[in-house]
Amino acid sequence: MPPDFSHIQPKRLPALIAAAPKAELHVHIEGTLEPELAFEIGRRNGVALPYESPESLRKAFAFTGLQSFLDVYYAAASVLRTEDDFDDLTWAYLQRAHADNVVRAEIFFDPQTHTARGVPFETVLCGMSRAITRARHELGISAALIMCFLRHLTEREAFETLERAEPFREHLLGVGLDSGERGNPPEKFANVFDRCRRLGLHAVAHAGEEGPPVSITAAIDVLGAERIDHGVRCLEDEAVVARLVRERIPLTVCPLSNVTLRVFDTLAHHNLPKLLAAGLRASVHSDDPAYFGGFVNENYRQAFASLPLTAADAYTLLRNSLESSFQNAAEQARHVDRLDALFSEKWGRD
Ligand code: HPA
Ligand code: ZN
Repeated sequence: MPPDFSHIQPKRLPALIAAAPKAELHVHIEGTLEPELAFEIGRRNGVALPYESPESLRKAFAFTGLQSFLDVYYAAASVLRTEDDFDDLTWAYLQRAHADNVVRAEIFFDPQTHTARGVPFETVLCGMSRAITRARHELGISAALIMCFLRHLTEREAFETLERAEPFREHLLGVGLDSGERGNPPEKFANVFDRCRRLGLHAVAHAGEEGPPVSITAAIDVLGAERIDHGVRCLEDEAVVARLVRERIPLTVCPLSNVTLRVFDTLAHHNLPKLLAAGLRASVHSDDPAYFGGFVNENYRQAFASLPLTAADAYTLLRNSLESSFQNAAEQARHVDRLDALFSEKWGRD
């Protein structure tokens, strides 16, 4: 039973949200690379970054849109070479996520960013998998990997990546589609997603971030996407909204990303309240937290500080995150029970 919210004092809501169990369903592991760790890994690998210091790299974080961000993001990822690098990166992220009470993380990675530099697929995957196993044992956090194809590359290159991945099939939860949306519609990857689905992989795709609502429909119909990453532009088309609501398709919304990459001018202009009012299955995530100003709890904190969102909205967003994951129903129910118990506790009523 969803709890009653009348006892929750608005000023206690940020602490309640921070303490709540939540799922992170939209985070790129390369986007969790903090400048300090990038310099440390670069130093030990003898890879120079085109910036003098972590501070000067941070100063380059004045993005004008998705592409200007991607240029910096791909440059910083060039320090990652060895299995230990991918292990360290993923372990640092999972510790940080655990501190935000993330109980489940479905993590994107971009193998092509690394294989193009001569790093073997196996190195990337084995390093990340090592950290995931350690995090399960030491932190009790459940995590899994979603392999993204870079949509600015060709479908042939996506197929080559899938071939490299197939021996490691059991390490993958699903596939996704990221990088520059403009000029790279879902249709370009119809065949490779078809093959992925036949392999039993879950499918998700970035759509409706910079692209129009029709790209959301195409991601569902052409790629078989089970979740839409971002999807915020759906509100421009009533029919697309009606379909997303009817089919209960999750939208993994990233408020700080959307402001940093100029999808919305300010957080106060973000359409998250409207997405919820429309009955869309939205949840809050961090995208590339090292670049966009915060991990998942910071996304919640700032969104709730800037927008007219209530305790009921917080509950809906948190529950949507847990129920939009690809965990089985029993695991989801276990987390939702904990969420319900937390929301039923005293949060301000004396
Ligand atoms: N959009 C597309 N591709 C990406 C993103 C994003 O927000 N972050 C990392 N790769
Ligand atoms: Zn993303």
